Amino acid sequence: MARIETIGVVGAGQMGAGIAQVSAQSGYQTLLWDANGAALESGTASIRSQIQKMKEKGKITDKDAASALDRLKAAGSLSEFAKADLVIEAIVEKFEVKAALLGELSNLVQPDAIFASNTSSISITRLAAASGRPERFIGMHFMNPVPVMKLLEIIRGLQTSQETYEASSQVAERMGKTCVLAIDSPGFIVNRILVPMVNEAIFLLQEGVRPEDIDNAMKLGTNQPMGPLALADFVGLDTLLFILQILHRELGDDKYRPCPLLIKYVEAGWHGKKTGRGFYTYS
Ligand code: CAA
Ligand code: NAD
Repeated sequence: MARIETIGVVGAGQMGAGIAQVSAQSGYQTLLWDANGAALESGTASIRSQIQKMKEKGKITDKDAASALDRLKAAGSLSEFAKADLVIEAIVEKFEVKAALLGELSNLVQPDAIFASNTSSISITRLAAASGRPERFIGMHFMNPVPVMKLLEIIRGLQTSQETYEASSQVAERMGKTCVLAIDSPGFIVNRILVPMVNEAIFLLQEGVRPEDIDNAMKLGTNQPMGPLALADFVGLDTLLFILQILHRELGDDKYRPCPLLIKYVEAGWHGKKTGRGFYTYS
């Protein structure tokens, strides 16, 4: 089986930064790259600050923190990914953008390397077909925030080989994640159930229920750690809308239609916590 020592992560947003942090802390040489230089800088800074906080809380020794940071490198360009054994893609949730990146990567990265996508909802089979290495392509769907959440959904495309599945499961295990095997259907397991619930909460908001009442109802009434509107802001309203559009289009059922109020928020540029405003405001 392919031995994985170096992991390249593309996309240094909230998911890519979290994946790179966990990768470096799990002993992998880790490369992180983003098309947007400012995002790469802030993603790297957020990893440093998370590791510093863990050190202050005594959750990680000074030595382990230093070696995790030593293993992490912000790549100057995508060509540095040539030596990666596994590349995890965590960029914007749009098929065309992901497919273009995979095409570029397939020319740069050694042919034996495995590619994984952290997509929330796009067909792994379709991405695999665009990757130039369909047998060595798999879905590794991490949950947000990556360093905290235990779950990893693994999704095999139609073309994914058993060896690729086993190698990615071993990586997940070394990262301390518990895997579930999902089928390659829009939204996999978690988002197929979670995202319609969050969309329904936005319909209630649109009908006039106060946001704090919706969130308190679900927190205190169903023991969720955060209410659905706070969770929507946390995930990113742009990402949530992309997922709903894919569920709606691919499953062909109107129960997945995105709430018009969500569309308006995204049009306004209110993408949630990452832009400082969503259903709530953030300083
Ligand atoms: N990165 C790293 N660590 C974080 C973090 C982040 N962004 N946010 C919080 N943490 C850590 C904190 O440092 C703290 O660690 P310690 O216990 O070691 O002190 C711990 O998490 C708890 O944090 P807080 O005390 O600050 O706050 P909290 O108890 O309210 O927990 C939360 C925060 C973990 C985010 C919690 O509210 C939660 O679990 N929310 C639900 C998250 C969820 O549902 N995620 C799935 C989203 S769906 C998805 O990911 C799939 C998709 O495709 C959209
Ligand atoms: P984000 O908006 O925080 O970050 C996306 C990053 O991708 C940005 O920094 C952007 O500059 C970069 N990017 C865009 N196009 C690029 C390209 N062509 N090449 C390199 N970098 C590029 O998004 P996110 O929340 O981190 O989501 C990333 C992926 O993870 C999406 O597929 C999303 O569906 C999935 N995901 C998100 C969550 C969540 O809760 N937000 C959870 C699980 C999975």
